[in-house]
Amino acid sequence: MGLARSYAAELARLGHSQRTYDLYRMEFNPVLAGSELVPVSSDHPVSADVVRAQDDIRAADALTVIYPLWWLSMPAIMKGYIDRVFARGFAYESHGGVVRGLLGGRKSVLITISGAPLPLLVKSGNWNAVQILQDTHIFRSAGLELLEHLHFDEVVPQLPKAIAEQHMVRVQACARQHFHES
Ligand SMILES: Cc1cc2nc3c(=O)[nH]c(=O)nc-3n(C[C@H](O)[C@H](O)[C@H](O)COP(=O)(O)O)c2cc1C
Repeated sequence: MGLARSYAAELARLGHSQRTYDLYRMEFNPVLAGSELVPVSSDHPVSADVVRAQDDIRAADALTVIYPLWWLSMPAIMKGYIDRVFARGFAYESHGGVVRGLLGGRKSVLITISGAPLPLLVKSGNWNAVQILQDTHIFRSAGLELLEHLHFDEVVPQLPKAIAEQHMVRVQACARQHFHES
């Protein structure tokens, strides 16, 4: 959460209003229930947590998503947020396998963390997989304009304080670069 806190604090300093979703602290339910898959009707209203998250995205100019790579993917709680909140009819439409994003007009920044060095991920082809599945298949497909995918590599337990501070500086610079003072 250190990166998220620094990033959010920098946005606030630039005069932007922002809302941080800490999915663990919110105990966000990541399970897309069968009842949420049926066409929404008064008998099957969209869950309140999903309505709130969708309203926040609708009202936002930009969405920044921060997570560590776990098995090259996003943690299950984050994936569950995408499953439930980036729902058909809200984040995308799909006809005959052709997806049209519905979140156009909004910017996004993706910030990820890995234990492995980035050059190793690139060499093995794993970074390409991350970019295809996450940058493009999720965020760009939903129509978001992906301004940057900022990645912090070699993040291990007991990271030296000086390195952690460099990461905070980098994440704040990212906020400043894309979101000037309002
Ligand atoms: C379940 C799990 C799976 C992970 N999988 C990967 C991985 O596939 N590739 C990688 O480079 N790092 C992997 N890591 C390391 C994390 O990306 C990250 O470096 C580490 O969790 C430090 O971040 P944190 O302090 O926010 O937990 C994994 C960590 C966990 C706990």
